[in-house]
Amino acid sequence: MVTVSLIWGIVVVVCCCLWLILGIRTRRKGEPPLENGLIPYLGCALQFGANPLKFLRANQRKHGHVFTCKLMGKYVHFITNPLSYHKVLCHGKHFDWRKFNFTTSAKVFGHRSIDPNDGHTSENINKTFIKTLQGDALDALTEAMMENLQLVMRPSALPKTKMAAWETEGMYSFCYRVMFEAGYLTFFGKDLTRQDSQRALMLRNLDNFKQFDKIFPALVAGLPIHMFKAAHYAREKLAEGLRHENLRRRNCLSDLVSLRMLLNDQLSTFDDLEKAKTHLAVLWASRANTIPATFWSLFQMIRSPEAMKAATEEVNKTLEDAGQKISFEDNFIRLNQRQLNDMPILDSIIKESLRLSSASLTIWAVKKDFTLDIEDGSFNIRKDDFIAFYPQLMHLDPEIYPDPLTFKYDRYLDENGKAKNTFYSNGVKLKYYIMPFGSGATICPGRLFAVHEMKQFLFLMLSCFELELVDSHVKCPPLDQSRAGLGVLPPLNDIEFKYKFKYL
Ligand code: HEM
Ligand SMILES: *[C@@H]1O[C@H](CO)[C@@H](O)[C@H](O)[C@H]1NC(C)=O
Ligand SMILES: *[C@@H]1O[C@H](CO)[C@@H](O)[C@H](O)[C@H]1NC(C)=O
Ligand SMILES: *[C@@H]1O[C@H](CO)[C@@H](O)[C@H](O)[C@H]1NC(C)=O
Repeated sequence: MVTVSLIWGIVVVVCCCLWLILGIRTRRKGEPPLENGLIPYLGCALQFGANPLKFLRANQRKHGHVFTCKLMGKYVHFITNPLSYHKVLCHGKHFDWRKFNFTTSAKVFGHRSIDPNDGHTSENINKTFIKTLQGDALDALTEAMMENLQLVMRPSALPKTKMAAWETEGMYSFCYRVMFEAGYLTFFGKDLTRQDSQRALMLRNLDNFKQFDKIFPALVAGLPIHMFKAAHYAREKLAEGLRHENLRRRNCLSDLVSLRMLLNDQLSTFDDLEKAKTHLAVLWASRANTIPATFWSLFQMIRSPEAMKAATEEVNKTLEDAGQKISFEDNFIRLNQRQLNDMPILDSIIKESLRLSSASLTIWAVKKDFTLDIEDGSFNIRKDDFIAFYPQLMHLDPEIYPDPLTFKYDRYLDENGKAKNTFYSNGVKLKYYIMPFGSGATICPGRLFAVHEMKQFLFLMLSCFELELVDSHVKCPPLDQSRAGLGVLPPLNDIEFKYKFKYL
């Protein structure tokens, strides 16, 4: 008996050793320093997941600007020198830009793969996004958003007496409500046949979106949605509202949604619910980062008296130049592209808020063995490894941004009050100094619209309302690190503020 157990024991130990030895990569000549981590398969994933910034800074100190980490069985080469970003992007022909291979989207939203190589659709979704979110399409989208923001912010249904009083609300919850609803209407149009029930439907959509978005990091990490009953139900309900038959009842669909409906019908073998879920993916991409980013820009602005003063002056001047007046009646304020683009102070406030709150991880798969030639040296990279940027390291680098944790509303303004684009690392001017929208071929296709809608939001808040924090000395809420890697981090707790319509 004893010998049998002993033999089995030895077999198990030998297998474990073999697995450990074979499963762990050894660094070859010319490759970046390698961090295998202590845990088989996971590698460094737990430390990375707990606090990416801390983990990457520690490795930077230990290994220099380029190093490899084992994460969930994959080998990821982090390039952390902002002076090298440009050179890395020059190696683009070696990268597979279809990040996560489109599988993340499929897993999270519940449709089959949208990668044309997998044969369920032949839509080139990158082309769809660029065609309908940029260029001429951007003007129409921006115009619709300006109108919808005003519809949502000052519903004319409210009695004047109600609007004349101070209203107190959580600022994050306010931004969530306004940006979700206005964005939903802008992309997916309005149902004019059932106007009375629209408000209730929108509030249900809002609730469902919050429920679903809460578990988003868990889904990306690979947990099945069946573990989260309420959020699963919320996702299905959201998708229900985006079925083609429901969208066809709505007016003023954006170019993006109407083109995607057409291509879904013509080029894919998706069933009706899957088509709806591809729209849900667009809804999520368009709202999930914008909402917290809008909160941070409003919060940081209100908290800084100099920022408030400078921004209000800029808004006053723009209103005056545009010959527009705010009133209680239905005439909406409109700004043309030139007026919208000519507000450097709001631009700087938005950039500075994104700098402080965004934590996106950009990852590209490597198609074949190649040598990466960058400022930091030459590195051999193997096929099927990954190249990664974590720009928060740059955004919080005290050499590039002195006093990096402090909000300075004019950080992105030069001495003439125009946009500043000269930032230095190691005495060298940086080509890339702020990257909240990713980079390279996978850069966010909605980035121009995102800045427009945040600017419109700030513009309308400043021109239509008096604004005050309930506690003027309130502490800045901490960032919710559980979403690090996914984009803009929301605040961990909400902040109370008061607003009152100015003109009655
Ligand atoms: C402050 C707001 C926003 C931020 C910070 C943001 C950031 C990002 C980032 C970091 C990515 C991934 C890029 C990469 O992997 O390199 C991305 C992708 C994307 N974003 Fe945005 N985004 C914002 C707003 C928007 C808006 C308003 C839209 C409008 C529809 C949008 C649409 C998309 C889409 C469709 C993708 C996926 C592109 C693809 O994989 O082909 N985003 N965004
Ligand atoms: C992409 O997904 C397909 C299956 O959906 C798989 O065969 C292929 O290996 C994946 N490619 C990469 C680079 O992960
Ligand atoms: C902006 O305009 C309003 C109304 O015209 C005025 O009350 C306010 O003082 C102006 N603010 C600044 C900072 O110019
Ligand atoms: C998307 O299209 C743009 C413009 O045509 C191109 O520069 C970019 O490389 C494309 N990205 C991907 C992932 O194919």
